[in-house]
Amino acid sequence: MRIYKAKDYKDMSRKAANIISAQVISKPDSILGLATGSTPIGTYDQLVEWYNKGDIDFSEVTTVNLDEYKGLERTNDQSYYYFMHKHLFDRVNIRQERTFIPNGMNMNAEEECARYQKLIDDLGGIDLQLLGLGHNGHIGFNEPGEALEKDVHCVDLTENTIEANRRFFDSIDDVPRQAYTMGIKSIMHAKKILVVVSGEDKADILKESFFGKVTSKVPASILQLHPYVTLVADEAALSKCEGL
Ligand code: F6R
Repeated sequence: MRIYKAKDYKDMSRKAANIISAQVISKPDSILGLATGSTPIGTYDQLVEWYNKGDIDFSEVTTVNLDEYKGLERTNDQSYYYFMHKHLFDRVNIRQERTFIPNGMNMNAEEECARYQKLIDDLGGIDLQLLGLGHNGHIGFNEPGEALEKDVHCVDLTENTIEANRRFFDSIDDVPRQAYTMGIKSIMHAKKILVVVSGEDKADILKESFFGKVTSKVPASILQLHPYVTLVADEAALSKCEGL
């Protein structure tokens, strides 16, 4: 695992964007696995800035997102569809038909999971998967539990995650209870993985995930078994990792 220690959030975002940019420049038709959440926003902003300067071209890129809430319309400003368009897709020259996100409005979970899994499989593998880290160690919406799901599945979000998402909704009752997420297999099959982590509130879980035991109780810990993981974290997030 490569670890890049960033000074702060801005520095983390710049370093992460550099890695994504290098991927797209060296392989213009890259398949990028993308994440939402607050952590990658600065990374997307940096990529857009470089795109505007003419330094990066998304015209041949394909993207496949990790997850989407079940039951939220695309037009809902909390849907991951809305997020991705707002922060990246509508701001760069990516072909919209090459951007894929689970369809949260397909209420038939079995059908939607099978469709999205097939789509990922047909793409033939992700070149670079971007991940954030949940406070409970989740990646995508692969929540802590007795076992990890391999394929795309519909999850009941944990209380911890519902609580963490609450800030984005008017009331706790509006926070979706379920989501579609890529499974651990598709994440682990990505050729390269880039994890971005920021803030002191992530310091404990970062240490547990990357330096603790590999366990389904901390889903991100499985990343320790991947041959090509790059962790870009700021000083605050790395503050519990002695010697770094
Ligand atoms: C988002 C996702 C989640 C987030 C995680 C961290 O697509 O899959 O696993 O990466 O919840 O979220 P933030 O960055 O908001 O702390």
